[in-house]
Amino acid sequence: MNDYIVELKNVQKKFENVLILKDVNFGIGERETVSICGTSGAGKTTLINIMGLLELPTHGNIFWEDQNIIICNTKKLSQMRAKIFGYIFQRCNLIPELNVIENILFPKRITSKVSISDIEFAKELLQLVHLSGFENRNVWTLSGGESQRIAVVRAMINRPRIVIADEPTGSLDEKSAHITMDMIINLCREYGSSLLLITHNQLFAKKMQTSYTLNNSELKPFDYAKSGQ
Ligand SMILES: Nc1ncnc2c1ncn2[C@@H]1O[C@H](COP(=O)(O)OP(=O)(O)OP(=O)(O)O)[C@@H](O)[C@H]1O
Ligand SMILES: [Mg+2]
Repeated sequence: MNDYIVELKNVQKKFENVLILKDVNFGIGERETVSICGTSGAGKTTLINIMGLLELPTHGNIFWEDQNIIICNTKKLSQMRAKIFGYIFQRCNLIPELNVIENILFPKRITSKVSISDIEFAKELLQLVHLSGFENRNVWTLSGGESQRIAVVRAMINRPRIVIADEPTGSLDEKSAHITMDMIINLCREYGSSLLLITHNQLFAKKMQTSYTLNNSELKPFDYAKSGQ
């Protein structure tokens, strides 16, 4: 027994016999904030896709509340994904055919019927990212920064246990990046979600309680205070 929500044990990942992740042991606890840095191609997205149940490891196990989820079927995995995680990607991945409110409520539809209180919660979140009144906008009319804030709201709609953010500010200018990052951190704090952040931005990485680097297939703890960076 430990205090992790999700834990990877001895996880290895190979793509066509190329080793991407070697013996990764890693977990994320309740309300914990964690950053992972590493060079491009190091395997960061692969690692968090495994953590977020979007991809399976070649070897090793994934535990959620002491249940080994490797043995779960596809339907159960999909429900767990929607229940446990909120995902934010570098490119916001909004669905162009759906308007803002429909995009936000999309993860809700995977687990249940949309209720009035869900719509109210969506509006409350929109207010917190300063986009009240955007409910019926077509997503292709939004700026990059606005789109990403909608993606942040969408990630929060199921009140996830863990928000997984893969370079969420990577395609934004510096000012928008800071605003968006602060919104992600504040929303996670407000709604009690843990945050797993992949970033190339050391300023953002340092804001997390725990930091790791991923290089040469190995995940290692990293202490910014000791490193002087
Ligand atoms: N489905 C796949 N099939 C084959 N190789 C893959 C696959 N997915 C990822 N890779 C390879 O695995 C390596 C790690 O990719 P990954 O996307 O995890 O890196 P990353 O650390 O997230 O990089 P970046 O910082 O550029 O986003 C890369 O060499 C990539 O080409
Ligand atoms: Mg990546």
